[in-house]
Amino acid sequence: MQPLWQREDFWRKAAIFVTAGMAVVLILLTFDSMAKSSAGKGLVPAFAVINQQIDYRFDDARNMRVPVVEGEQLLFGKRLTEAEAEALVSHGKKTVQAKNCMDCHTLLGNGAYFAPDLTKAWLDPQWEGMETLTETDTREAAMAAFLEHPSHYATQDRVMPELKITPSEARAVVAFLKWMSAIDTNGFPANFDPHAEED
Ligand code: HEC
Repeated sequence: MQPLWQREDFWRKAAIFVTAGMAVVLILLTFDSMAKSSAGKGLVPAFAVINQQIDYRFDDARNMRVPVVEGEQLLFGKRLTEAEAEALVSHGKKTVQAKNCMDCHTLLGNGAYFAPDLTKAWLDPQWEGMETLTETDTREAAMAAFLEHPSHYATQDRVMPELKITPSEARAVVAFLKWMSAIDTNGFPANFDPHAEED
């Protein structure tokens, strides 16, 4: 009689057992991640958060900046239901994918490092300054105007190219960026502080 560790059928059974066990673990982890990362759960806000004002403040207990959802601040002056907000954000996300923004930018850390990370772009204080430049009165209008014609509003040495973004695509992208800025990214990107100039 061979010892157990020399028997082929022992190792065959062990391989099947480990593979099956890991498959179960993978399935459980997938459900766990989905529960934490789908809109309206865990760290990711519901799409209707785009009806609210979003701030980004330092949390002493967590020792990082976190999104703070405050009172109502409608996007383009329109209150959207969760379904309408989802449709708009989804249109924005598809536009971002179709126009390959990730060729230059990162979103939630994924993409290229030529241009700034867009995760918190909605909260960038520079839009406030652009409001007068574009003679519009809201942050979303300034962002949409920039996205439609980035070369008119270059603020840095590197100019973002014209990507032929239509007005409706620009509004959807702004909704997507506003929603994304409300995601609690555990302090990512670490160097972004919208209140830096006030301190
Ligand atoms: C070819 C490279 C390139 C592509 C593609 C590109 N961008 Fe940009 N983008 C830039 C550069 C460069 C800047 C910095 C421009 C400046 O501030 O002068 C910028 C700036 C921005 C800003 C301002 C960032 C901030 O925090 O103030 C936003 C928002 C933005 N881009 C969104 C987008 C979106 C959305 C897309 C896809 C539809 C996109 N970009 C595609 C190069 C690119």
